Amino acid sequence: MKQISTQVVIVGAGPAGMILALLLEMAGVDCVVLERRARDDVLARIRAGVLEPSAVEFLRESGLVTRLDRLGRPRNGSRIAWQDRPSMMIDVKRWTGTEMMAYGQTFLTEDLYAQSDVLGTRLFEEVDHLKIEGIDSSRPTLEFWTPKGNLHITCDYVIGCDGSRGHCVTLIPEAKRQIFKRVYPFGWLGILAETPPVDDFTYIYHSEGFALATQRGPNLSRYYVQTPLDQGIEAWPDDRFWETFLHRAPKDLAEQVVTGPSIEKSLAPLRSRVVEPMRWGNLFLAGDAAHLVPPTGAKGLNLAISDVRLLSRALLAHYQDGTDELLDRYSEDALRRVWTASNLSWRLTRLLHVFPGEPAIDARLRLCDYEELLENEDLQRVLARDYAGVSST
Ligand code: APR
Ligand code: PHB
Repeated sequence: MKQISTQVVIVGAGPAGMILALLLEMAGVDCVVLERRARDDVLARIRAGVLEPSAVEFLRESGLVTRLDRLGRPRNGSRIAWQDRPSMMIDVKRWTGTEMMAYGQTFLTEDLYAQSDVLGTRLFEEVDHLKIEGIDSSRPTLEFWTPKGNLHITCDYVIGCDGSRGHCVTLIPEAKRQIFKRVYPFGWLGILAETPPVDDFTYIYHSEGFALATQRGPNLSRYYVQTPLDQGIEAWPDDRFWETFLHRAPKDLAEQVVTGPSIEKSLAPLRSRVVEPMRWGNLFLAGDAAHLVPPTGAKGLNLAISDVRLLSRALLAHYQDGTDELLDRYSEDALRRVWTASNLSWRLTRLLHVFPGEPAIDARLRLCDYEELLENEDLQRVLARDYAGVSST
C-alpha cells in the first residue's frame, strides 16, 4: 500500500472541500483531497445559486472563481408574492447597501476544479472503503481504496467536507456530539428549462403550496413547486409541473413565464440539521457535513463558504504564525453564523409553505405575519439583512 504524509486531508470535493483545498494550497499548506465520486458526477450536480454579498467579495478576492463577474448576475433582492395580497421585495440593496449574486453552484464547482487542475491539487477521486483513525491523536491516519490502488495517509488535520450523508461526523463520539434535526413534511420539485427567466427571483405563497422562480442565466430558468413527499418525480411530468407553477404564481408573474421542456428535474426533501460541536480532536467539519438548511433562503452554499473561510484563516494562523486560537474557536465562531442562517431558513420556510394537515388557524397566523411584514419597515430591514447574511458576518 502506498504511504503519503501531508499536513491536511480534506474529505469531500464539493464546494466546501475544493475552496478550502485551493486556499490552503495557494498559501503553501500541503493538502490532499479525497472524493468518493467521479469528477463528472460532482460537476453534474444542480444545486442552489445565490451568493451573499460577503461570499461574492470573498470569492472575488480569492481569485478562485474566474467567471463570477462574467456569468454572475447581481440581484438587488428577491420578491415575495402572496395570493390575493400585494407583493413585497426583500430589498437587500435598500436595507444593506449591498447586492446578492445569482451564480449557479454548478458554475462555481467547474471554476474550482479548473483552478485545481492549474494548481495541481492532489485530488483522489472515486475513493472507497475509507477508514479514518486516531482523530484525537496528533497524527491521524486515513486508509482507502482508489481505482489506481490503495493508499495510507498520515496527516495533522482531517477536514470533513463530505456532505450531509458523510462519514466524518460519525468520528465524533456519540456522547460528545449533539445533532439538532427537523424533517419537513414536504419537498421541492425543481426543474431547469432553457427559457428566458422572469425578472425577479420570486418566492410565492399560495394556499395550495409554495413555488419559486429563479434563474441560472439569460436563457436558463429554474423553477420549483412544493410537493407532497409521497409522490415521486414520475408523478410530475412537465405539463403538470407548469400547470401547478402557473396556478400558484400571481397573474403578473405567470404572464412573464416562458414555459418549455425541462432539461433536468429533481425532487429534494427539506431538512434542517446542525451538528455540535463542529470540531473534535483534529477533525473539523465544514459545509453540509455539519449543517443542512432547507433551501428557502439559499443559505447552504453560503454557509459552506463561510465555514471554509473561517477554517482556512485558522489553519493558516496555525501553520504560518504558530497560533491555535482561531482553530480552538472555529466551532463556536462557525456555529454562530450557522444558527442565524438556520433560523432565517426556518422562518422563511414556515412563512411560505403550507404544512399538510395543519389546523386552519395556521394559515391565518401566516397571513398575519405577512401583513405585518408588508406594513413594518423594521421587519423588512431585519429580513433583508438576514437574507443577505449581513447581520451575522
Ligand atoms: N469520501 C470522500 N468523499 C465523500 C465521502 C467519503 N466517504 N462522502 C461524501 N463525499 C463527497 C460527496 O461525493 C460530495 O462530492 O463529499 C462531497 C460533499 O459535497 P456537497 O454535498 O456539495 O457539500 P459541501 O461541499 O458542504 O457544499 C455545500 O452543497 O448541498 C449543497 O446546499 C448545499 O450548496 C451547499 C453546498
Ligand atoms: C435557486 O436558484 O435554485 C434558488 C434560489 C433561491 C433559493 C433557493 C434556490 O432560495
